[in-house]
Amino acid sequence: MIVLGIETSCDETSAALVQDGRKILANTVASSLEFHKKYGGVIPEIASRMQLETISGIMESALKKAQIKLKDIDLIGVTSGPGLLGSLLVGISFAKSLSLGLAKPLLGVNHVYSHFYANFLAGEKIKLPFVALVVSGGHTSLFYIRDFDKIEVLGETQDDACGEAFDKVAKILGLGYPGGPAIEKIAASGEPKKIRFNCYGTRGKLDFSFSGIKTAVLYYVKGRRLSRKEKADISASFQEAVIETLVTKAILACKMKKVSRLVVGGGVAANNRLRDKFYAAAADHNLSCYFPAQSLCMDNAAMIAGLAYQLFKKGYRSDLSLTADLN
Ligand code: KG4
Ligand code: ZN
Repeated sequence: MIVLGIETSCDETSAALVQDGRKILANTVASSLEFHKKYGGVIPEIASRMQLETISGIMESALKKAQIKLKDIDLIGVTSGPGLLGSLLVGISFAKSLSLGLAKPLLGVNHVYSHFYANFLAGEKIKLPFVALVVSGGHTSLFYIRDFDKIEVLGETQDDACGEAFDKVAKILGLGYPGGPAIEKIAASGEPKKIRFNCYGTRGKLDFSFSGIKTAVLYYVKGRRLSRKEKADISASFQEAVIETLVTKAILACKMKKVSRLVVGGGVAANNRLRDKFYAAAADHNLSCYFPAQSLCMDNAAMIAGLAYQLFKKGYRSDLSLTADLN
C-alpha cells in the first residue's frame, strides 16, 4: 500500500511516499528557515505563504523521485495538528483537494505522535508496548504506547518545550537560529560540568520544565561580555542539565510502566550528546533504546505517511470536514 504523506506544521513543506508504513520511496523536504533567521524565530505568515507556493512542486518532486503516479497512491495522510494554524491549513486543504480529485481516502495524523513513529521507518521491529519521549521545538512529552491508537500521556512540559529552550538559550548567547544545532556545535568544545545549571521541579514526576533553566542562563550572562570559551562552557553545561533531566525522567517512566523499550523522537533527538547519554543510561538499566536516523528527527512527511498507514489499517479515516487540530 502506497501512502502519500503531507507535512506543513511549522516551517517545513514536505511530501513523502511510503510503502506499507515502513519503506520510504521518497521524502522531499523544503524549509523556509533562511527567511526566518533574521527574526530569530519562525514567522507564521512567512511560513504559510512559502508553503502555499512550494507544496505542489514538493509533491511533484517526491512523485518523480519515487517513480510513482498520482493514480498509484492508495491513501493520503496529512498532519492535522498541532502546529501553526495557517501552515496546517495549507497542507490540509492540499490533501483534501487531492483526496477529492483522485477519489482516494484521506487521514489526518497527529504530528507529535508521528515523531516517535519515525523510528519504524528504518525497518526497525520495535515491539509494543513501549515508552516514547518526543523532544521537539513545540513539545516535550512522555507517552506510554500500547498501540498506535492507544497512547497515554505520562508527562509533558509545564512551560517551554525542550527545543524552544535550546533556541532561546542560543539567542541569549548570540548563536543564531535554530539554536539546537548551534548549541550542540559550540558545546563540543565546552566543559559540561563547569556551571551547575538545573531543570527545576515539576508538578508531576514525569513532567518537564525548561523555562527556569533558560532564565538561569539569562541571569548568568547578564551584563557580561562572553568569550567563545565561556559561551562553549555555558552551552555545554546547559545542554548537559537538559539531557540529564530527559534521561532521568524517561528511565523513570520505563520503570513505572515496567517496559524495557524506550523510543525517542523529535528535532532535539538529533543531538549526538543526547543520543550517547540515552544509549549509555539504557544499557545501565537493561533497556533497549531507539532513535530515528538523524534526518528523520526533523519534521518530514515520511513519518506522517507511516503513521497514517498504521491507523488506516486499524480502520481510521478522515472526511472532507478535516480541519486543523491545534491541541
Ligand atoms: O521536531 P522539529 O523539527 O520541529 C517541531 O516539531 O518543533 O524540532 C525542531 C527543534 C528546534 O527547536 C531545534 O532547535 C531543535 O529541534 N534541534 C536540536 C538539534 N537539532 C534540532 N536541539 C538540540 N540539538 C540538536 N542537534
Ligand atoms: Zn516536529
